[in-house]
Amino acid sequence: MSTQVNVEVFVKLESPLPTDSLRCEVENELRGESVLPCSILKSFKNQLLTQHVSSIRICEIYVRTENSNCEVTKTTTFDEKTTFNTFFTRLSEEVPQSESIGGDDDTLAANFLPLPAKYLDGLWESLVYDSNIKQEILQYSKAMLHYSKSQVDPNIINCNRVLLLHGPPGTGKTSLCKAVAQKLSIRLNSSYSQALLIEINTHSLFSKYFSESGKLVSKMFGKIREIACDPQTLLCVLIDEVESLTHSRSASTNGSEPSDAIRVVNAVLTHLDILKSYPNILTLTTSNVTNAIDIAFVDRADLRVFIPNPSPFGIYSILYSCLEELIKKGLINSPCPPRITDKRELDSDESDGLASQMAKLCRSCEGLSGRALRKLPLRVHSTMLLPDVPASVEEFTKAMKKAAEDMKEEMKSFDSPNMIHAE
Ligand SMILES: Nc1ncnc2c1ncn2[C@@H]1O[C@H](COP(=O)(O)OP(=O)(O)OP(=O)(O)O)[C@@H](O)[C@H]1O
Ligand SMILES: [Mg+2]
Repeated sequence: MSTQVNVEVFVKLESPLPTDSLRCEVENELRGESVLPCSILKSFKNQLLTQHVSSIRICEIYVRTENSNCEVTKTTTFDEKTTFNTFFTRLSEEVPQSESIGGDDDTLAANFLPLPAKYLDGLWESLVYDSNIKQEILQYSKAMLHYSKSQVDPNIINCNRVLLLHGPPGTGKTSLCKAVAQKLSIRLNSSYSQALLIEINTHSLFSKYFSESGKLVSKMFGKIREIACDPQTLLCVLIDEVESLTHSRSASTNGSEPSDAIRVVNAVLTHLDILKSYPNILTLTTSNVTNAIDIAFVDRADLRVFIPNPSPFGIYSILYSCLEELIKKGLINSPCPPRITDKRELDSDESDGLASQMAKLCRSCEGLSGRALRKLPLRVHSTMLLPDVPASVEEFTKAMKKAAEDMKEEMKSFDSPNMIHAE
Protein backbone atom coordinates (compact mmCIF):
# COMPACT_ATOMS: atom_id res chain seq x y z
CA MET A 1 0.00 0.00 0.00
CA SER A 2 1.38 3.42 -0.89
CA THR A 3 0.11 6.99 -0.67
CA GLN A 4 0.23 9.48 -3.48
CA VAL A 5 -0.59 13.15 -2.98
CA ASN A 6 -1.02 16.15 -5.26
CA VAL A 7 0.52 19.25 -3.71
CA GLU A 8 0.30 22.84 -4.95
CA VAL A 9 3.03 25.17 -3.76
CA PHE A 10 2.36 28.90 -4.07
CA VAL A 11 5.67 30.70 -4.35
CA LYS A 12 5.71 34.37 -3.34
CA LEU A 13 5.62 36.71 -6.33
CA GLU A 14 8.69 38.57 -5.11
CA SER A 15 10.79 35.41 -4.65
CA PRO A 16 13.65 35.29 -7.15
CA LEU A 17 14.12 31.51 -6.78
CA PRO A 18 13.33 29.25 -9.74
CA THR A 19 10.07 27.69 -8.55
CA ASP A 20 11.30 24.11 -8.82
CA SER A 21 14.28 24.58 -6.55
CA LEU A 22 12.23 24.02 -3.37
CA ARG A 23 11.08 20.48 -4.18
CA CYS A 24 13.21 18.74 -1.50
CA GLU A 25 12.32 21.31 1.14
CA VAL A 26 8.60 20.82 0.49
CA GLU A 27 8.85 17.02 0.68
CA ASN A 28 10.91 17.14 3.89
CA GLU A 29 8.42 19.57 5.40
CA LEU A 30 5.46 17.31 4.62
CA ARG A 31 6.89 13.90 5.54
CA GLY A 32 5.65 12.90 8.99
CA GLU A 33 2.74 15.39 8.87
CA SER A 34 -0.87 14.26 9.27
CA VAL A 35 -3.05 16.25 6.90
CA LEU A 36 -6.64 16.33 5.59
CA PRO A 37 -7.10 16.55 1.81
CA CYS A 38 -7.90 20.11 0.67
CA SER A 39 -6.03 21.71 3.56
CA ILE A 40 -3.77 24.71 3.36
CA LEU A 41 -0.48 25.13 5.23
CA LYS A 42 0.71 28.67 5.80
CA SER A 43 3.49 28.31 8.37
CA PHE A 44 6.56 26.16 7.92
CA LYS A 45 9.41 24.75 10.00
CA ASN A 46 11.82 25.25 7.10
CA GLN A 47 13.28 28.78 6.90
CA LEU A 48 13.64 28.77 3.12
CA LEU A 49 9.96 27.89 2.73
CA THR A 50 8.96 30.63 5.18
CA GLN A 51 10.96 33.08 3.12
CA HIS A 52 9.80 32.07 -0.36
CA VAL A 53 6.45 30.29 -0.10
CA SER A 54 3.11 31.87 0.83
CA SER A 55 1.13 28.63 1.14
CA ILE A 56 1.07 24.92 0.37
CA ARG A 57 -2.21 23.27 -0.58
CA ILE A 58 -2.62 19.55 -0.01
CA CYS A 59 -5.02 18.50 -2.78
CA GLU A 60 -6.11 14.97 -3.68
CA ILE A 61 -4.68 12.09 -1.65
CA TYR A 62 -4.79 8.58 -3.13
CA VAL A 63 -4.03 5.26 -1.50
CA ARG A 64 -2.81 2.69 -3.96
CA THR A 65 -3.05 -1.03 -3.28
CA GLU A 66 -2.32 -3.86 -5.67
CA ASN A 67 -5.80 -3.72 -7.24
CA SER A 68 -7.13 -0.26 -6.57
CA ASN A 69 -6.39 3.43 -6.36
CA CYS A 70 -8.78 5.14 -3.93
CA GLU A 71 -9.13 8.82 -3.18
CA VAL A 72 -8.94 9.40 0.57
CA THR A 73 -11.15 11.85 2.47
CA LYS A 74 -9.65 11.30 5.93
CA THR A 75 -6.59 12.70 7.68
CA THR A 76 -3.54 10.93 6.30
CA THR A 77 0.03 10.71 7.56
CA PHE A 78 2.75 11.12 4.95
CA ASP A 79 5.49 8.57 5.50
CA GLU A 80 8.70 7.57 3.71
CA LYS A 81 6.72 5.73 1.05
CA THR A 82 4.48 8.70 0.14
CA THR A 83 4.91 9.98 -3.41
CA PHE A 84 4.47 13.73 -3.85
CA ASN A 85 3.28 15.20 -7.17
CA THR A 86 4.29 18.76 -6.49
CA PHE A 87 3.20 21.68 -8.67
CA PHE A 88 4.97 24.98 -8.07
CA THR A 89 3.26 28.16 -9.14
CA ARG A 90 3.00 31.90 -8.61
CA LEU A 91 -0.47 33.44 -8.42
CA SER A 92 -1.00 36.51 -10.56
CA GLU A 93 -2.56 39.43 -8.70
CA GLU A 94 -4.37 40.70 -11.78
CA VAL A 95 -8.16 40.84 -11.91
CA PRO A 96 -10.24 40.29 -15.07
CA GLN A 97 -9.75 43.08 -17.58
CA SER A 98 -12.58 43.86 -19.92
CA GLU A 99 -11.47 44.58 -23.46
CA SER A 100 -13.16 45.55 -26.65
CA ILE A 101 -11.84 43.19 -29.25
CA GLY A 102 -12.55 45.00 -32.45
CA GLY A 103 -10.42 48.10 -31.76
CA ASP A 104 -12.83 51.00 -31.89
CA ASP A 105 -15.94 48.84 -31.55
CA ASP A 106 -16.97 49.02 -27.91
CA THR A 107 -19.64 46.36 -28.09
CA LEU A 108 -17.19 43.52 -28.64
CA ALA A 109 -16.31 42.69 -25.09
CA ALA A 110 -14.51 39.85 -23.38
CA ASN A 111 -12.76 39.53 -20.02
CA PHE A 112 -9.11 38.52 -19.96
CA LEU A 113 -7.48 37.03 -16.88
CA PRO A 114 -3.91 35.69 -16.69
CA LEU A 115 -3.85 32.36 -14.85
CA PRO A 116 -3.31 31.11 -12.24
CA ALA A 117 -4.94 34.08 -10.54
CA LYS A 118 -5.26 34.98 -6.87
CA TYR A 119 -8.76 36.11 -7.84
CA LEU A 120 -9.78 32.47 -8.43
CA ASP A 121 -7.81 30.90 -5.59
CA GLY A 122 -9.97 28.58 -3.47
CA LEU A 123 -12.86 28.48 -5.97
CA TRP A 124 -12.24 24.83 -6.92
CA GLU A 125 -12.19 23.80 -3.26
CA SER A 126 -15.39 25.75 -2.49
CA LEU A 127 -17.45 23.79 -5.02
CA VAL A 128 -19.09 20.70 -3.57
CA TYR A 129 -20.50 17.83 -5.63
CA ASP A 130 -21.46 14.36 -4.50
CA SER A 131 -20.07 12.45 -7.39
CA ASN A 132 -16.60 12.82 -8.81
CA ILE A 133 -17.71 15.50 -11.30
CA LYS A 134 -14.81 17.89 -10.66
CA GLN A 135 -12.10 15.24 -11.05
CA GLU A 136 -13.76 13.78 -14.14
CA ILE A 137 -13.89 17.17 -15.88
CA LEU A 138 -10.29 17.95 -14.92
CA GLN A 139 -9.01 14.55 -16.09
CA TYR A 140 -10.94 14.77 -19.36
CA SER A 141 -9.57 18.27 -20.04
CA LYS A 142 -6.03 17.15 -19.28
CA ALA A 143 -6.42 14.13 -21.55
CA MET A 144 -7.72 16.30 -24.42
CA LEU A 145 -4.81 18.71 -24.10
CA HIS A 146 -2.40 15.79 -23.87
CA TYR A 147 -3.76 14.36 -27.12
CA SER A 148 -3.38 17.66 -28.92
CA LYS A 149 0.12 18.21 -27.51
CA SER A 150 1.04 14.73 -28.72
CA GLN A 151 -0.33 15.63 -32.16
CA VAL A 152 -2.83 12.77 -32.21
CA ASP A 153 -4.51 12.97 -35.61
CA PRO A 154 -7.97 14.58 -35.00
CA ASN A 155 -9.27 12.93 -38.18
CA ILE A 156 -8.71 9.57 -36.57
CA ILE A 157 -9.58 10.38 -32.97
CA ASN A 158 -12.09 13.16 -32.88
CA CYS A 159 -11.57 15.81 -30.28
CA ASN A 160 -12.77 19.42 -30.42
CA ARG A 161 -11.61 20.29 -26.89
CA VAL A 162 -15.07 21.62 -26.09
CA LEU A 163 -16.83 20.99 -22.76
CA LEU A 164 -20.48 21.69 -22.04
CA LEU A 165 -21.72 21.95 -18.46
CA HIS A 166 -25.50 22.10 -18.24
CA GLY A 167 -28.08 22.00 -15.50
CA PRO A 168 -30.42 24.15 -13.41
CA PRO A 169 -29.46 27.75 -12.53
CA GLY A 170 -27.05 28.40 -9.68
CA THR A 171 -25.42 24.97 -9.55
CA GLY A 172 -21.89 26.30 -10.01
CA LYS A 173 -21.41 25.73 -13.76
CA THR A 174 -19.69 29.04 -14.50
CA SER A 175 -17.64 28.82 -11.31
CA LEU A 176 -16.60 25.27 -12.16
CA CYS A 177 -15.41 26.29 -15.65
CA LYS A 178 -13.23 29.02 -14.15
CA ALA A 179 -11.97 26.69 -11.44
CA VAL A 180 -11.06 24.03 -14.04
CA ALA A 181 -9.13 26.64 -16.05
CA GLN A 182 -7.25 27.71 -12.90
CA LYS A 183 -6.42 24.08 -11.98
CA LEU A 184 -5.20 23.32 -15.50
CA SER A 185 -2.93 26.36 -15.45
CA ILE A 186 -1.33 25.06 -12.23
CA ARG A 187 -1.18 21.36 -13.09
CA LEU A 188 0.03 21.79 -16.69
CA ASN A 189 2.58 24.53 -16.14
CA SER A 190 5.40 22.27 -17.24
CA SER A 191 3.75 22.16 -20.69
CA TYR A 192 2.60 25.78 -20.98
CA SER A 193 4.68 28.72 -19.78
CA GLN A 194 1.58 30.92 -19.41
CA ALA A 195 -2.18 30.62 -19.33
CA LEU A 196 -5.08 32.92 -20.03
CA LEU A 197 -8.80 32.78 -19.37
CA ILE A 198 -10.93 34.57 -21.95
CA GLU A 199 -14.52 34.99 -20.85
CA ILE A 200 -16.66 35.91 -23.83
CA ASN A 201 -19.48 38.28 -23.12
CA THR A 202 -22.01 36.47 -25.31
CA HIS A 203 -24.60 39.23 -25.17
CA SER A 204 -22.20 41.77 -26.61
CA LEU A 205 -21.88 39.71 -29.80
CA PHE A 206 -25.39 40.54 -30.88
CA SER A 207 -25.31 43.64 -32.98
CA LYS A 208 -28.20 46.02 -33.14
CA TYR A 209 -27.59 46.13 -36.90
CA PHE A 210 -29.15 43.32 -38.90
CA SER A 211 -26.66 40.75 -40.21
CA GLU A 212 -23.73 42.24 -38.27
CA SER A 213 -23.74 39.69 -35.40
CA GLY A 214 -22.10 36.94 -37.46
CA LYS A 215 -19.26 39.35 -38.23
CA LEU A 216 -18.83 40.21 -34.54
CA VAL A 217 -18.53 36.50 -33.74
CA SER A 218 -15.88 36.15 -36.46
CA LYS A 219 -13.91 39.09 -35.07
CA MET A 220 -14.00 37.60 -31.59
CA PHE A 221 -12.74 34.21 -32.71
CA GLY A 222 -10.11 35.92 -34.89
CA LYS A 223 -8.71 37.59 -31.77
CA ILE A 224 -8.67 34.27 -29.92
CA ARG A 225 -6.72 32.64 -32.76
CA GLU A 226 -4.22 35.49 -32.71
CA ILE A 227 -3.44 34.86 -29.03
CA ALA A 228 -3.39 31.10 -29.57
CA CYS A 229 -0.58 31.39 -32.12
CA ASP A 230 1.85 31.18 -29.21
CA PRO A 231 1.85 27.42 -28.47
CA GLN A 232 3.32 28.09 -25.00
CA THR A 233 0.08 29.83 -23.94
CA LEU A 234 -2.76 27.69 -22.65
CA LEU A 235 -5.98 29.41 -23.68
CA CYS A 236 -9.19 28.60 -21.82
CA VAL A 237 -12.17 30.17 -23.57
CA LEU A 238 -15.33 30.43 -21.48
CA ILE A 239 -18.64 30.85 -23.31
CA ASP A 240 -21.28 31.29 -20.65
CA GLU A 241 -24.93 30.76 -21.52
CA VAL A 242 -23.86 29.24 -24.80
CA GLU A 243 -27.50 28.75 -25.87
CA SER A 244 -27.65 32.45 -26.73
CA LEU A 245 -24.90 31.95 -29.35
CA THR A 246 -26.01 28.56 -30.54
CA HIS A 247 -29.76 28.94 -30.43
CA SER A 248 -31.37 26.02 -32.17
CA ARG A 249 -31.55 26.82 -35.89
CA SER A 250 -34.70 24.75 -36.27
CA ALA A 251 -36.42 27.20 -33.92
CA SER A 252 -35.20 30.22 -35.90
CA THR A 253 -35.99 29.18 -39.49
CA ASN A 254 -38.76 31.42 -40.55
CA GLY A 255 -39.02 32.46 -44.18
CA SER A 256 -36.29 32.18 -46.80
CA GLU A 257 -33.80 34.82 -45.52
CA PRO A 258 -31.45 33.42 -42.86
CA SER A 259 -32.08 35.31 -39.62
CA ASP A 260 -29.30 36.96 -37.66
CA ALA A 261 -29.57 34.18 -35.07
CA ILE A 262 -28.85 31.57 -37.74
CA ARG A 263 -25.86 33.54 -39.00
CA VAL A 264 -24.50 33.59 -35.42
CA VAL A 265 -24.94 29.82 -34.97
CA ASN A 266 -23.29 29.15 -38.31
CA ALA A 267 -20.40 31.47 -37.48
CA VAL A 268 -19.86 29.88 -34.03
CA LEU A 269 -19.87 26.34 -35.47
CA THR A 270 -17.46 27.24 -38.26
CA HIS A 271 -15.08 28.97 -35.87
CA LEU A 272 -15.16 26.11 -33.39
CA ASP A 273 -14.07 23.83 -36.21
CA ILE A 274 -11.20 26.17 -36.99
CA LEU A 275 -10.11 26.34 -33.32
CA LYS A 276 -9.71 22.57 -33.42
CA SER A 277 -6.39 23.02 -35.17
CA TYR A 278 -5.01 25.11 -32.27
CA PRO A 279 -3.79 22.49 -29.79
CA ASN A 280 -3.54 24.92 -26.88
CA ILE A 281 -7.21 26.04 -26.80
CA LEU A 282 -9.84 24.54 -24.51
CA THR A 283 -13.41 25.83 -24.84
CA LEU A 284 -15.57 25.65 -21.72
CA THR A 285 -19.28 26.32 -22.16
CA THR A 286 -22.33 26.43 -19.89
CA SER A 287 -26.08 26.44 -20.33
CA ASN A 288 -29.18 26.14 -18.20
CA VAL A 289 -31.61 25.81 -21.10
CA THR A 290 -30.14 22.78 -22.79
CA ASN A 291 -33.07 22.14 -25.11
CA ALA A 292 -32.49 25.53 -26.77
CA ILE A 293 -28.92 24.69 -27.88
CA ASP A 294 -28.32 23.81 -31.52
CA ILE A 295 -27.78 20.06 -31.76
CA ALA A 296 -24.75 20.56 -34.01
CA PHE A 297 -23.06 22.41 -31.13
CA VAL A 298 -24.08 19.77 -28.60
CA ASP A 299 -22.58 17.18 -30.93
CA ARG A 300 -19.28 19.07 -31.09
CA ALA A 301 -18.91 19.05 -27.29
CA ASP A 302 -16.54 16.24 -26.31
CA LEU A 303 -17.89 16.04 -22.78
CA ARG A 304 -21.39 17.04 -21.70
CA VAL A 305 -21.86 17.03 -17.97
CA PHE A 306 -25.10 17.56 -16.11
CA ILE A 307 -24.50 19.64 -13.00
CA PRO A 308 -27.32 19.00 -10.53
CA ASN A 309 -28.58 20.78 -7.45
CA PRO A 310 -26.77 19.53 -4.36
CA SER A 311 -27.98 16.44 -2.46
CA PRO A 312 -28.49 16.65 1.33
CA PHE A 313 -24.82 15.79 1.89
CA GLY A 314 -23.70 18.43 -0.62
CA ILE A 315 -26.05 20.88 1.11
CA TYR A 316 -24.48 19.95 4.44
CA SER A 317 -20.96 20.65 3.13
CA ILE A 318 -21.99 24.03 1.68
CA LEU A 319 -23.82 25.13 4.82
CA TYR A 320 -21.01 23.84 7.05
CA SER A 321 -18.54 26.00 5.12
CA CYS A 322 -20.89 28.99 5.69
CA LEU A 323 -20.97 28.23 9.44
CA GLU A 324 -17.18 27.94 9.58
CA GLU A 325 -16.82 31.31 7.87
CA LEU A 326 -19.29 33.07 10.20
CA ILE A 327 -17.63 31.54 13.28
CA LYS A 328 -14.20 32.60 11.99
CA LYS A 329 -15.46 36.15 11.45
CA GLY A 330 -17.12 36.32 14.90
CA LEU A 331 -20.76 36.48 13.71
CA ILE A 332 -21.54 33.19 15.43
CA ASN A 333 -20.11 32.85 18.88
CA SER A 334 -20.05 29.13 19.59
CA PRO A 335 -17.39 26.66 18.48
CA CYS A 336 -17.88 24.82 15.21
CA PRO A 337 -19.73 21.51 15.69
CA PRO A 338 -17.75 18.41 14.64
CA ARG A 339 -18.03 17.80 10.93
CA ILE A 340 -20.11 14.84 9.74
CA THR A 341 -18.04 12.82 7.27
CA ASP A 342 -20.38 9.90 6.71
CA LYS A 343 -23.43 10.56 4.50
CA ARG A 344 -25.46 8.02 6.46
CA GLU A 345 -25.32 10.15 9.60
CA LEU A 346 -27.46 12.75 7.85
CA ASP A 347 -30.22 10.25 7.25
CA SER A 348 -30.50 9.14 10.84
CA ASP A 349 -32.32 11.13 13.51
CA GLU A 350 -30.55 9.20 16.27
CA SER A 351 -27.62 11.58 16.58
CA ASP A 352 -27.48 14.23 19.33
CA GLY A 353 -29.25 17.62 19.32
CA LEU A 354 -27.16 19.77 17.02
CA ALA A 355 -26.29 17.03 14.54
CA SER A 356 -29.94 16.07 14.14
CA GLN A 357 -30.88 19.76 13.81
CA MET A 358 -28.32 20.09 10.99
CA ALA A 359 -29.67 16.93 9.33
CA LYS A 360 -33.21 18.35 9.39
CA LEU A 361 -31.96 21.65 8.00
CA CYS A 362 -30.25 19.89 5.09
CA ARG A 363 -33.33 17.87 4.26
CA SER A 364 -35.48 21.00 4.24
CA CYS A 365 -33.03 22.68 1.85
CA GLU A 366 -33.37 19.93 -0.76
CA GLY A 367 -34.17 21.45 -4.14
CA LEU A 368 -32.34 24.71 -3.48
CA SER A 369 -29.36 25.51 -5.69
CA GLY A 370 -25.82 26.06 -4.40
CA ARG A 371 -26.29 29.76 -5.10
CA ALA A 372 -29.49 29.90 -3.01
CA LEU A 373 -27.76 28.04 -0.15
CA ARG A 374 -24.87 30.47 -0.07
CA LYS A 375 -27.42 33.29 0.25
CA LEU A 376 -29.20 31.79 3.27
CA PRO A 377 -26.88 33.13 6.01
CA LEU A 378 -27.27 36.72 4.86
CA ARG A 379 -31.03 36.32 4.74
CA VAL A 380 -30.98 35.01 8.32
CA HIS A 381 -28.93 37.96 9.49
CA SER A 382 -31.03 40.47 7.63
CA THR A 383 -34.44 39.23 8.66
CA MET A 384 -34.29 36.90 11.65
CA LEU A 385 -31.22 37.61 13.75
CA LEU A 386 -29.44 40.86 14.45
CA PRO A 387 -26.22 40.97 12.42
CA ASP A 388 -24.24 42.74 15.17
CA VAL A 389 -25.26 40.39 18.01
CA PRO A 390 -23.38 37.08 17.71
CA ALA A 391 -25.77 34.11 17.69
CA SER A 392 -25.19 30.53 18.81
CA VAL A 393 -24.90 27.72 16.25
CA GLU A 394 -28.25 26.32 17.50
CA GLU A 395 -30.10 29.61 17.03
CA PHE A 396 -28.52 30.12 13.65
CA THR A 397 -29.31 26.61 12.39
CA LYS A 398 -32.93 26.95 13.45
CA ALA A 399 -33.24 30.31 11.71
CA MET A 400 -31.62 28.89 8.55
CA LYS A 401 -34.23 26.13 8.41
CA LYS A 402 -37.02 28.69 8.57
CA ALA A 403 -35.29 30.89 5.96
CA ALA A 404 -34.88 27.90 3.62
CA GLU A 405 -38.56 27.03 3.92
CA ASP A 406 -39.53 30.65 3.21
CA MET A 407 -37.19 30.74 0.23
CA LYS A 408 -38.70 27.58 -1.26
CA GLU A 409 -42.20 28.97 -0.78
CA GLU A 410 -41.19 32.19 -2.55
CA MET A 411 -39.65 30.32 -5.47
CA LYS A 412 -42.93 28.50 -6.07
CA SER A 413 -44.55 31.77 -7.07
CA PHE A 414 -42.05 32.14 -9.92
CA ASP A 415 -43.40 28.94 -11.40
CA SER A 416 -39.99 27.82 -12.57
CA PRO A 417 -39.53 24.07 -12.34
CA ASN A 418 -35.77 24.56 -12.63
CA MET A 419 -35.42 26.63 -9.48
CA ILE A 420 -36.86 23.98 -7.19
CA HIS A 421 -35.29 21.08 -8.94
CA ALA A 422 -35.70 17.81 -7.12
CA GLU A 423 -32.93 15.73 -8.66
N1 LIG B 1 -22.23 22.77 -5.79
C1 LIG B 1 -21.87 23.93 -5.25
N2 LIG B 1 -20.98 23.96 -4.23
C2 LIG B 1 -20.63 25.12 -3.68
N3 LIG B 1 -21.03 26.33 -4.09
C3 LIG B 1 -21.90 26.37 -5.10
C4 LIG B 1 -22.36 25.17 -5.74
N4 LIG B 1 -23.21 25.52 -6.71
C5 LIG B 1 -23.27 26.86 -6.72
N5 LIG B 1 -22.49 27.37 -5.76
C6 LIG B 1 -22.25 28.81 -5.50
O1 LIG B 1 -23.31 29.52 -6.11
C7 LIG B 1 -22.82 30.69 -6.77
C8 LIG B 1 -23.29 30.75 -8.19
O2 LIG B 1 -22.60 29.82 -9.00
P1 LIG B 1 -22.50 29.94 -10.59
O3 LIG B 1 -22.73 31.34 -11.02
O4 LIG B 1 -21.22 29.30 -10.99
O5 LIG B 1 -23.71 29.04 -11.02
P2 LIG B 1 -24.26 28.73 -12.49
O6 LIG B 1 -24.58 27.27 -12.51
O7 LIG B 1 -23.30 29.22 -13.51
O8 LIG B 1 -25.60 29.57 -12.54
P3 LIG B 1 -26.42 30.06 -13.84
O9 LIG B 1 -26.96 28.84 -14.50
O10 LIG B 1 -27.50 30.90 -13.25
O11 LIG B 1 -25.47 30.83 -14.70
C9 LIG B 1 -21.31 30.68 -6.63
O12 LIG B 1 -20.97 31.55 -5.58
C10 LIG B 1 -20.99 29.26 -6.24
O13 LIG B 1 -19.87 29.21 -5.43
MG1 LIG C 1 -23.50 30.66 -15.07
